[in-house]
Amino acid sequence: MKAWQFESYGPYHEVLKWSEREMPIAKTDTAIVKTSAVSLNFPDLLVCQGLYQVKTPLPAVPGVEGIGIVESAGPSSKFQAGDRVAGFCHGGGTLAEYFAVTNNSAWLVPDFVSDEAGAALSVTYGTSYFGLAHRAHLQVGETLLVLGGAGGVGLAAIQLGKLMGATVIAAVGSQKKMEVCLNQGADHVINYKSQNLADEVTRLTSGRRADVIYDPVGGDLFEQTKRCLGWDGRLIVIGFAAGTIPSIETNRLLLKNAAILGLAWGQYMERAPEKVERCQKYLYQLLKIGSINPVVFQHLCFEDTLEGMKILESRDMYGKIVLSR
Ligand SMILES: NC(=O)c1ccc[n+]([C@@H]2O[C@H](COP(=O)([O-])OP(=O)(O)OC[C@H]3O[C@@H](n4cnc5c(N)ncnc54)[C@H](OP(=O)(O)O)[C@@H]3O)[C@@H](O)[C@H]2O)c1
Repeated sequence: MKAWQFESYGPYHEVLKWSEREMPIAKTDTAIVKTSAVSLNFPDLLVCQGLYQVKTPLPAVPGVEGIGIVESAGPSSKFQAGDRVAGFCHGGGTLAEYFAVTNNSAWLVPDFVSDEAGAALSVTYGTSYFGLAHRAHLQVGETLLVLGGAGGVGLAAIQLGKLMGATVIAAVGSQKKMEVCLNQGADHVINYKSQNLADEVTRLTSGRRADVIYDPVGGDLFEQTKRCLGWDGRLIVIGFAAGTIPSIETNRLLLKNAAILGLAWGQYMERAPEKVERCQKYLYQLLKIGSINPVVFQHLCFEDTLEGMKILESRDMYGKIVLSR
């Protein structure tokens, strides 16, 4: 088969090549999926550079999520040939003609879900749902602050936050992204490049600040982010798109009765796969009734993967990039 693979770590445009690779094998509970569509995620850039938390042996393939049709299945797989599934490959693997999933890392996709939506929603909505519902226990009437609001996980958090009855403040880095967040249901938007995040959150909440902060950005912005946490607040650490991992003085948490919560969605696959499957089924039902709507910035062909990665890297995009075969 052919795959977008790299033999050494480096910038994707230098190392990623469409080249021949051995087919994965359907042993034990592994199923081999013929790829229909893949969506790109921020970690794909890190995977190519060897900077992602999970490293697969070289030569390796990026792409952490995808949708397709099961071609063959191992003896203890819960899938059979012909099943339409979406799956997660921690550390990469879906940017190929075929990718391998296990019983824990894939689920059936109903017919009403398009390839585009099915490829685009697993990681972003899964992460945001687990973050807001399981970790932060977001309540009706609470104020949710979503950083990087126009990114993949950010837009999912805005839509799910509204659905859960929160007032949503989205914070982004451009005028265009402010418009995108308002269109996707945010009640208020802040441009953290031209406005002081903490002052604006304080003003918008009449001094109460945020009950829940959803932070996929980290970095220098965190100096302001931590000041946005209200009494009894919960800050969910999602990622570090800004490139650096911040820290916090624990007396802030004591004084505000606040909590910092980590969220690693991929871990649920190993530790509580039944919760992931239940969540994905729920997300498909929300999609069916129009309560969530993955925003696809560009839908490209598989051949245009390098172009897709370039857009992902540019920071000008919002939502998701989907690549179809
Ligand atoms: N914990 C988990 O289980 C989990 C799951 C999925 C993703 N993540 C993490 O969540 C983060 C966001 O993922 P994503 O797929 O939503 O990414 P994305 O679509 O690229 O969005 C990231 C957002 O971060 C903001 N940002 C701030 N500084 C940036 C910088 N220096 N470079 C690029 N973007 C920057 C950008 O918004 P502005 O331009 O508006 O600032 C951008 O829209 C990543 O760190 C990813 O690894 C974690």
